Amino acid sequence: MSLPPGPTAPAPWMLMRWMRDPVAVLKECRARYGETFTLDIGAMPPLVILSNPEHVREVFASAGDDMHGGEIASGLRPFLGERSVIVLDGAPHRAMRKLVMPPFHGERMHAYGRAMVDLTHASIDRWVVGKEFPVHEALQAITLDVILRTVFGMDDAADRARLGEQLTRLTHLASWPPLLLPQMQRDLGAWSPWGKFLRESRAADANLLGEIARRRREGSAGRTDILSMFLGVRDEEGRGLDDQDLRDQLVTLLVAGHETTATALAWTLRWVLALPDVRERLMNELHTAQRGGPLTPERIAKLEYLDATVREALRLQPVIPLVGRITQQPLRFAGYDLPKGVALAPSVHLVHLNPAVYENPERFDPSRFVGRSYKAHEWIPFGGGIRKCIGMAFALYEMKMVLATVLSRAWLRTAPGYTPRAVRRSITLTPSEGMPVVVDAVLPRSPDTAAAAA
Ligand code: HEM
Repeated sequence: MSLPPGPTAPAPWMLMRWMRDPVAVLKECRARYGETFTLDIGAMPPLVILSNPEHVREVFASAGDDMHGGEIASGLRPFLGERSVIVLDGAPHRAMRKLVMPPFHGERMHAYGRAMVDLTHASIDRWVVGKEFPVHEALQAITLDVILRTVFGMDDAADRARLGEQLTRLTHLASWPPLLLPQMQRDLGAWSPWGKFLRESRAADANLLGEIARRRREGSAGRTDILSMFLGVRDEEGRGLDDQDLRDQLVTLLVAGHETTATALAWTLRWVLALPDVRERLMNELHTAQRGGPLTPERIAKLEYLDATVREALRLQPVIPLVGRITQQPLRFAGYDLPKGVALAPSVHLVHLNPAVYENPERFDPSRFVGRSYKAHEWIPFGGGIRKCIGMAFALYEMKMVLATVLSRAWLRTAPGYTPRAVRRSITLTPSEGMPVVVDAVLPRSPDTAAAAA
């Protein structure tokens, strides 16, 4: 048995560095040890970091029995629940994924586009001209509202605000990175970090289960939200999802879907605001589209340069640094005889910075995505294979809706003197200080969007 080479510094030191700046650690190791190396950060099984696209392809081609993706996410169990699709493996994972996937089909996204656009308008209406504010927070509020409306099916703004506030408090508590470590997950009373989290979590669960019960009573006729679809799904034996299944999937979709999308949007804006050529090309595309009629979700979804811009942002600044699968038996892989119990971990950053695939990879250039797509193991911000992000179509669609709406109404600039750094929030890498921007102008909603929202 052998592991690829890697840093020999003590695991606690590597863990600290990893928690603080995973991208720097990955780049450093890539330069020193080559495209495949081992990182031992102690809190997890040794990570065999992969960046050769062929190795990544091999991981994504696995049917999941020889390598488990749920096991590596087991630290999320206390947050998401034992039945969350993210933490399951093997047959239970396949079965849950089959039940949860259908509402996320690309074509269904048009049903959610109107809500994505309307909720973005509602946020912009509150922006104050001349004022500096952390745009990441505004984007988080939008993406949370979008999930509560389109996934949970909460139509009432006051109800969404109440549950949203509670869930934000909860995700805020949960996003403190050390809380992912099992040794930190001990209830030492209401003031300890874990104790506080547990108490908030129980209160939120009571509300979520109340909401599920109400929706079961009221029925789903005529509704398009994802919870309504879940209430109607049945497996081959005619079994549906029980309350605990539903609770765990709702929390999973909320946690997996809102912070990630808001962060991806913040990074996209960071480049758009910094690069006048990119912004101008986007504005031209939007103006040309507007001349042809109102900017409906269907029309926004087809804008080619907008699509390329969000894909390029996800390439250059991926939100999640690694995906992982734990080997279930000894395995010959990438020229090594790996033991059981190590994590094969495609590095999203390193794959995206491969100069053999992306010319001038450190440069932000959306045109590399115009008229061409990359292979499933070359562009991997959403992972791949049987564990590929369920919300990929949803997230890309939402990013385009939000970005087009913001750019068509608000003139923003990066706050003077601000240079973003990637900081860690739980498993995501977000721009530091919430990415402060200044609002220089806000246009009123155009009559067609105001009418559609009414
Ligand atoms: C830009 C936004 C997003 C990014 C970058 C992202 C990224 C990812 C990544 C890297 C994975 C792991 C894939 C793997 O292991 O191969 C994942 C899994 C997942 N994501 Fe996303 N995601 C985003 C948005 C969303 C949204 C909007 C939802 C749902 C509303 C969602 C739901 C999920 C679920 C349920 C899984 C687990 C799939 C499984 O284990 O079978 N994600 N996502």
